[in-house]
Amino acid sequence: MNENPHTSIVTGDADGISQAVAHLRSGRTVALPTETVYGLAADAFNSAAVEAIFVAKKRPHSDPLIVHVGESHRTLAKLAADGIVDGSKLTEVARRIVEGLTARFWPGPLTLLLPKGPKIDSSITAGHALVAVRHPDHPVFMEILARLGQPIVAPSANLFGRISPTCADHVYRQLNGRIPLIVDGGECRVGLESTILRIESDGNLTLLRPGGTPVEGIEAALGRRVRLLDAKEAENRAPLAPGCMSSHYAPTKPTRMIASLDDVKALGEAMTAGHDFPTRVGLLLTRQGSTLAPTLSFTFPATRWDIEHLPVDDQGRDAAAGLFSALHRLDTLPLELILVETPTSNQHLWRATRDRLKRATARSDQLAVPKY
Ligand code: TXA
Ligand code: MG
Repeated sequence: MNENPHTSIVTGDADGISQAVAHLRSGRTVALPTETVYGLAADAFNSAAVEAIFVAKKRPHSDPLIVHVGESHRTLAKLAADGIVDGSKLTEVARRIVEGLTARFWPGPLTLLLPKGPKIDSSITAGHALVAVRHPDHPVFMEILARLGQPIVAPSANLFGRISPTCADHVYRQLNGRIPLIVDGGECRVGLESTILRIESDGNLTLLRPGGTPVEGIEAALGRRVRLLDAKEAENRAPLAPGCMSSHYAPTKPTRMIASLDDVKALGEAMTAGHDFPTRVGLLLTRQGSTLAPTLSFTFPATRWDIEHLPVDDQGRDAAAGLFSALHRLDTLPLELILVETPTSNQHLWRATRDRLKRATARSDQLAVPKY
């Protein structure tokens, strides 16, 4: 039985906000806009509501949720006072760093992994000793947090493993019938998820997920390097943090990365062994003055190419903002294959953009001959 045969969409005005708060108070899930992507929200202190998120998204319980806090919890002292974080488990140096990060980057797309406080149920952290906390920078979400008066858990409002939503329509297409309400707050400004940082007891910072707050800005603000997870640690973490898993954020069609002309040749050879090359293929271009489109049409003249261009700007802001929309548009076309040009830059927001593209293509890239 479908519990939500009709998912309603309301605008993020005073009436929409009141409806969202009423739903959250009665233990229901609501999709809400944030500055990064749309989140599927529930009252963090209502365990049945938290469970409903896992059901709606078909998300495994091993994947922990981010706790979103409002203005009243924007400092470490307030998070600790209300039992969201256990401040006593932080060393003095770690505490100073957390205070520096929250003062400089909150509200905004930065999630901190901190010792879990007694008020946070282990279903939220998947049994982990750390809780992910963020103070989002979106007027609708902030107003709802203020009115509800308690934290909200919110993973991205997509089916598990699929492309994250950056507008209400993306949410509707994946979760229609699975949730009661979507609050439409327009397009998300940042366009991809928050940066996730772990603060170690010696004050070192580890990047778990590149995102909307560039690492360069964090390093400049603190005068410290941010460490990347090494490959082995990343692999060990996969079951705990699927957003860090190699295959995630994926379109429903086979999707492959093209870094060079050699990849075009290899693709041609792999795919035409016993098959014709697909007749309709999507192409996402990510480089200034790219010559990939003419090369591909020359190499595969019988194929129809549906092309999307990511805006190419130095810091990758526009590219990040347009990334998931471009993937959603390609994914709704009757394509047999999607090809993604590997971006050249790995700086600023290009780091997160590349990360999402790598994960979106990870599964299909392992197949010698994509199924189409
Ligand atoms: O920008 C964002 O962070 C968005 C918006 C809605 O706020 N949220 C988001 O949530 O991206 P989600 O659940 O789609 O991704 C959160 C990632 C997951 O990969 C999860 O495994 C990881 O954060 N995570 C959450 N809590 C964690 C914890 N306690 N320890 C380790 N990883 C955690
Ligand atoms: Mg997600």
